[in-house]
Amino acid sequence: MALVYRRFWQIVCVSCTTLLLVLVNADDIFHEWQVNIDTTIKPISVDQPVITINGMFPGPLINATTNDVIHVNVFNNMGEPLLITWNGIQQRLNSWQDGVSGTNCPIQPGLNWTYVFTVKDQIGTFSYFPSINFQKAGGAFGPIRVNNRVVIPIPFPKPRGEFDLLVGDWYNESFKDIRSSLRKSHFDLLPKSMLLNGRSRYPQSNWTIVVVEDETYLIRISNVGTQWSINFRIQNHQMLLVETEGSYTSQIMLDSIDIHVGQSYSVLITTNQPEADYYIVASPKMVNTSESSSLVGVGVLHYEESTTPVQGPLPVGPDPFDVNFSVNQAKSIRWNLTAGAARPNPQGTFNVSNVTLSQTFILQGSLAEINREVRYTVNNVSYHVPNTALKLADYYQNGTGTYQLDAYPANSSYPIATYGTFVVSGTHNGWLEIVFKNNLKDIDTWHLDGFGFYVVGIRHSSAGTKANTGAAKAVSGNNHLDKQVN
Ligand SMILES: *[C@@H]1O[C@H](CO)[C@@H](O)[C@H](O)[C@H]1NC(C)=O
Ligand SMILES: *[C@@H]1O[C@H](CO)[C@@H](O)[C@H](O)[C@H]1NC(C)=O
Ligand SMILES: *[C@@H]1O[C@H](CO)[C@@H](O)[C@H](O)[C@H]1NC(C)=O
Ligand SMILES: *[C@@H]1O[C@H](CO)[C@@H](O)[C@H](O)[C@H]1NC(C)=O
Ligand SMILES: *[C@@H]1O[C@H](CO)[C@@H](O)[C@H](O)[C@H]1NC(C)=O
Ligand SMILES: *[C@@H]1O[C@H](CO)[C@@H](O)[C@H](O)[C@H]1NC(C)=O
Ligand SMILES: *[C@@H]1O[C@H](CO)[C@@H](O)[C@H](O)[C@H]1NC(C)=O
Ligand SMILES: *[C@@H]1O[C@H](CO)[C@@H](O)[C@H](O)[C@H]1NC(C)=O
Ligand SMILES: *[C@@H]1O[C@H](CO)[C@@H](O)[C@H](O)[C@H]1NC(C)=O
Ligand SMILES: *[C@@H]1O[C@H](CO)[C@@H](O)[C@H](O)[C@H]1NC(C)=O
Ligand SMILES: *[C@@H]1O[C@H](CO)[C@@H](O)[C@H](O)[C@H]1NC(C)=O
Ligand SMILES: *[C@@H]1O[C@H](CO)[C@@H](O)[C@H](O)[C@H]1NC(C)=O
Repeated sequence: MALVYRRFWQIVCVSCTTLLLVLVNADDIFHEWQVNIDTTIKPISVDQPVITINGMFPGPLINATTNDVIHVNVFNNMGEPLLITWNGIQQRLNSWQDGVSGTNCPIQPGLNWTYVFTVKDQIGTFSYFPSINFQKAGGAFGPIRVNNRVVIPIPFPKPRGEFDLLVGDWYNESFKDIRSSLRKSHFDLLPKSMLLNGRSRYPQSNWTIVVVEDETYLIRISNVGTQWSINFRIQNHQMLLVETEGSYTSQIMLDSIDIHVGQSYSVLITTNQPEADYYIVASPKMVNTSESSSLVGVGVLHYEESTTPVQGPLPVGPDPFDVNFSVNQAKSIRWNLTAGAARPNPQGTFNVSNVTLSQTFILQGSLAEINREVRYTVNNVSYHVPNTALKLADYYQNGTGTYQLDAYPANSSYPIATYGTFVVSGTHNGWLEIVFKNNLKDIDTWHLDGFGFYVVGIRHSSAGTKANTGAAKAVSGNNHLDKQVN
């Protein structure tokens, strides 16, 4: 194989040297992050600890181009272990860089560790966030852009500007208090507000996008919250959806878009309205916001020459309890297979409608009582975080003493709710069908880590409020599924 490749490269060298130069052109990007707890930021004018990166909340932008190598040297000054995940960055070859429990050890307090990963064959809008111990409810999240290489045209006119927007639910309490409450089964602790880029609602605080008239802008939106799906919309402006989860989409015009926890979307807006200010709104799904306005995130789209403040009521979105809206919108989003772009999956595997399945997993998300504690479970098993990372246990001990492979049913519920380190074996090079079933009364979001994932079907059972949306997405890295209380 090596010989074949070498010969190929020689041919490239002889016939077109410039192409070769372009091919190997990837940059190294270096970040040095000091992660601290700050008690002065007060996003909602309540005293609470906020996790900052280099003093920033949200954290700094990672602005990369396809194939760049990113080095992030993280100094953990926050007094407890920290693990940061690069959500959606494909890490098929080095899953120990992906920052999730199991394959990557947390950075111990007072120490630093350098994540090194390549945004290989990728484009798109992503985000990073802490993946353990409910730290995400305290901050340390931020935006990631992976731009097309200059030789690959983007499938829309170059926008005048780009904005990163991190939307997320936020609690009045300290993230430390929330996680100890969760350990005591207090699931009634709910977010009290919605932040846009770390800012509370207009006019208490103002997150503002400044634009000029008759231009087009790209807004890169990620839901970095812990619990709520959101509906996002801009007064008097439609959005043209162009990209999600690392793939350009068939472009569709939307009045509002549902963004579930962990998801990212890129939309274009055209500033074709009269010079004025307009509301930007992010409202939670499955939540009745009529009693508390702080539950709805509000920012401002400000036309540069505008002297007219925002006016009128907030733009109205779909009924937040209409799960059908979410499901139908998700179904309407399609990849644009003819758009030129780096893709995380090899040529020829786009069409997954006729592959031979090697395994089926049916994973049910529920609440169950174990030793008088209420816990989120998968197939009636609540994940017990082992002291040894799964990958280390696998490598050095073949799992012994850390987990038992295939000890729990991968296709049905365990008859007695239990704690366990639920690890299943997958078939190497096989096609795995994973069915997510939501037995909860909320919209449930799963973090799928490893390989490439394709949504092949979504169904909403009309009974009750159950949503079998299984918000699966093409994220990557660790070849494992984790379901935690986060
Ligand atoms: C949460 O904090 C806000 C201030 O941002 C305050 O108005 C509200 O009353 C608080 N809610 C609760 C339940 O403590
Ligand atoms: C991001 O990187 C691209 C490509 O190098 C560059 O054109 C752009 O100005 C950068 N944007 C920011 C906000 O740094
Ligand atoms: C910790 O930071 C120092 C100084 O930047 C660096 O030389 C060292 O490689 C880092 N250690 C790790 C494990 O990343
Ligand atoms: C937000 O903007 C409004 C109108 O421009 C202004 O009245 C208000 O003082 C601003 N609030 C903050 C916290 O800057
Ligand atoms: C898909 O991308 C191609 C290439 O950029 C573009 O011409 C076409 O309009 C796109 N199709 C849709 C439906 O967005
Ligand atoms: C939302 O709450 C308001 C006030 O409590 C109530 O009148 C309304 O019926 C509720 N709406 C829904 C959909 O539950
Ligand atoms: C949900 O939407 C589908 C497709 O539009 C429709 O057939 C179905 O009746 C709707 N269900 C409910 C409960 O509204
Ligand atoms: C995918 O393959 C199936 C059957 O093999 C075929 O019916 C379908 O048209 C293909 N879809 C695309 C987008 O090529
Ligand atoms: C699906 O794949 C099988 C075996 O790979 C092949 O025999 C069959 O013709 C394919 N069907 C379609 C509709 O492409
Ligand atoms: C799970 O159930 C499906 C049918 O529902 C079956 O095809 C599959 O083989 C089962 N998988 C396992 C691992 O038992
Ligand atoms: C490791 O564990 C697997 C599954 O439990 C077993 O099949 C295999 O024989 C074990 N290998 C060794 C070297 O013990
Ligand atoms: C989970 O276990 C409990 C007993 O601990 C049992 O009552 C319940 O039926 C199980 N749930 C499912 C979905 O099997």
